[in-house]
Amino acid sequence: MQIDVTINNKQISLTVDFNEFLADSLRKHGFSSVRKGCDTSCCGLCSVWIDGKPTLSCSVLAFRVAGKNITTIEGVETEAEAFAQILAAEGAEQCGFCSPGFIMTVLALKNEIPNPTEEQIIHYLTGNLCRCTGYMGQLRAVKTYLGVNT
Ligand code: FES
Ligand code: FES
Repeated sequence: MQIDVTINNKQISLTVDFNEFLADSLRKHGFSSVRKGCDTSCCGLCSVWIDGKPTLSCSVLAFRVAGKNITTIEGVETEAEAFAQILAAEGAEQCGFCSPGFIMTVLALKNEIPNPTEEQIIHYLTGNLCRCTGYMGQLRAVKTYLGVNT
């Protein structure tokens, strides 16, 4: 079937199967920043924004986003780069596999909760897993990026 969506501020017509998930549709249409790690709503790698809200694209049927606004990391390059530089400065740069989803969640947190507590940051990022490094450097970077001192 054919659906019309806005992806990164561009109107796009997508051809999707009735049982296809959004993560697969986005990758099929060239948005290769969208990764998949688990396919079971556990890892957060596939996070994109739907109408500004971070959402696991591996768990949303593509036809359900008809008429909506999708944002991938390609659509927020400047903000993503600013945060990535802080991550690197904290020695917490992540692999290309988990970074896009993690960064999309951090940028959404910035938009959604002004001046969050450490507890709120940890809670907000609970769904984004890393299988290889850890979380303390990332937490430092998120706090620096958000200007949080707690
Ligand atoms: S691939 Fe979507 S949450 Fe893991
Ligand atoms: S999974 Fe990417 S840095 Fe751990």
